[in-house]
Amino acid sequence: MSKPFNRILLTGAAGGLGQILREALQAHAHIVRSSDIGAMTPSRGEHDEVMPCNLADKAGVAALCKDVDAIVHLGGVSVERPFEEILQANICGMFHVYEAARQHGIKRVVFASSNHVTGFYPQDVELDVHALRRPDGYYGLSKAYGEDMATFYFHRYGIETVSLRIGSSFPEPRNRRMLSTWLSYGDLEHLVARALLADKVEHTVVYGVSANRDLWWSNRHAAHLGYAPQDSSELFRAKIERLPAPATDEPGSQLQGGPFTAAGPFD
Ligand SMILES: NC(=O)c1ccc[n+]([C@@H]2O[C@H](COP(=O)([O-])OP(=O)(O)OC[C@H]3O[C@@H](n4cnc5c(N)ncnc54)[C@H](O)[C@@H]3O)[C@@H](O)[C@H]2O)c1
Repeated sequence: MSKPFNRILLTGAAGGLGQILREALQAHAHIVRSSDIGAMTPSRGEHDEVMPCNLADKAGVAALCKDVDAIVHLGGVSVERPFEEILQANICGMFHVYEAARQHGIKRVVFASSNHVTGFYPQDVELDVHALRRPDGYYGLSKAYGEDMATFYFHRYGIETVSLRIGSSFPEPRNRRMLSTWLSYGDLEHLVARALLADKVEHTVVYGVSANRDLWWSNRHAAHLGYAPQDSSELFRAKIERLPAPATDEPGSQLQGGPFTAAGPFD
């Protein structure tokens, strides 16, 4: 059966979302090359390559991208941490991925950005991707920088990227905030597929969120992707609303970024 790509590189393959997408990407490529700094399950055959790599290692990332046709870049620090840790994995790592893409002629990147690039907006404000960013920490800043890098590599080198500002992608929402920010695994898989397959994306930014009732984000500027979420957090509302309500003065309870907005300082 012919597939749209011969080989897709997946970074962050050992992580929560990486484990889901390692499986799902098999539908779009003859070979999925999975990479991470952490332990990955062994290869299950020629179609399922495993190549450990630290994203901070420029030569290592260049080798990772050899004979690759598209990159799904999830690897990096995924929570708020001291700047020095974020710098290596997320900022240098992003640069290494794009330099390798340039050197190997790879024309499509799907980048796991985050809702934390706009985390300092109040929860009652609806945003689209043209809203000025308000990163809520070093992690959010690294994702904002990653989005800028994607814009640069498109205009300078023609490498197209879809940046997914993922909300909260877990098997089910865990708290009231996630009733708005939840992205189901099924919708994540569909969104990544659209990001890989849609024509002429240039650099498109899209919020990665399911069709939840109380959304904070509009994807009106990403309609060309054809992303049509099927799931909703409503299924879990009763269960979540049985949990104790957070105090309104709890850090971050009024802000889109939630607890990330109150993390640090780290000295
Ligand atoms: N899950 C979510 O709700 C969510 C929300 C917003 C954004 N994202 C982003 O999506 C991506 C995947 O998220 P996740 O929930 O699977 O996170 P995760 O932390 O489970 O996975 C990230 C993976 O990156 C790897 N990694 C970290 N530093 C590395 C380095 N220097 N070199 C190579 N690999 C390194 C880790 O070992 C880990 O396996 C991340 O980039 C995250 O920031 C996720």
